[in-house]
Amino acid sequence: MPTRREFLASTAAAATLASRTVADPRSSGAPMPAPAAGLGRPVVVSSANGIRGVKVAYDRIVRGTDCLDAIIAGVNIQELDADDQSVGVGGLPNADGVVQLDASCMHGPTKRAGSVGALEGIATPSLVAKAVMDYTDHIMLVGEGAKRFALAMGFKEQELLTEKTRQDWLRWKARLNKDDAWLDHDDDVAIKFTTGTINMNAVDARGDISSVTTTSGMAWKIPGRIGDSPVIGAGQYCDNTVGAAGSTGRGEANIKVCGGFLTVEFMRQGLAPEVAVLKTLERLVAMTETRLLRADGRPNFDIQFYALAKDGRYAAGTLYEGAQFAVCDERGARLEKCVHLYPRPSR
Ligand code: GLY
Repeated sequence: MPTRREFLASTAAAATLASRTVADPRSSGAPMPAPAAGLGRPVVVSSANGIRGVKVAYDRIVRGTDCLDAIIAGVNIQELDADDQSVGVGGLPNADGVVQLDASCMHGPTKRAGSVGALEGIATPSLVAKAVMDYTDHIMLVGEGAKRFALAMGFKEQELLTEKTRQDWLRWKARLNKDDAWLDHDDDVAIKFTTGTINMNAVDARGDISSVTTTSGMAWKIPGRIGDSPVIGAGQYCDNTVGAAGSTGRGEANIKVCGGFLTVEFMRQGLAPEVAVLKTLERLVAMTETRLLRADGRPNFDIQFYALAKDGRYAAGTLYEGAQFAVCDERGARLEKCVHLYPRPSR
């Protein structure tokens, strides 16, 4: 049984929800529209590597944390995990052996966004992107300027290249050209190539939505390369009246279709999240240049889109069958299958 105090509090909350508008403590005082009927179910959706993070984010949202702060806490787990080679500390470096990180975020209720690109030496670019959003009139900072801003904001510089990623980078260099001055080693250690990333999106019980994407980008990239993750509308996008979407995989393919924005726009037109992600994938295939198509006309890379509607419906789509994504709601954290355009190609 709830105590009298809890009962009064829940009644007051219900009365507030029933009124036409509610005050948003984070805004400048302008009233926000009351949540539409049917809302009230927090949901967090992420790329599969966010399986731990969706639970952290969900628990915080249920306890009343702002949904952007909650999902950034979720992706921080991967950014600080040296074993995740697609993001933050331990992310695979560029061709010079330097880890350069990209991230962006959007906060639906206040319609704000922040982003950093090619950021060196700071483990949590998602938090730096949020600091750009919170403390500047700009949206995107890159390279040396982004680092100077982060240091000024109190972020600590650290070496992001781990011993493992340094070894991987040396092996990659040694195998680039058999006639160069680097001798090949006769080991079978697979050199990982990744366009892995973590994207996370959440809706809270009020129907407020946020999104964040963070990555070390394409392994062995040309120094200075920026992928889709820090591009608002590509790596992630959020419109508080519709939903949020984001991407992992080959960023160059996503940038050309503004896939985060496009997926949200498909949902705005009334399409279900699983249809929206498939239509974005179809557009992406139609925009793929011939040099990246296999003999059967399908792309020679993979990419995923994640979509979350304001009413809590969600889905993720991948070009090739087999990918999963992470979700957490009242049923707990779990992996689910992405919808796909094509069966997994035989090797
Ligand atoms: N989607 C991550 C990247 O291409 O950088």
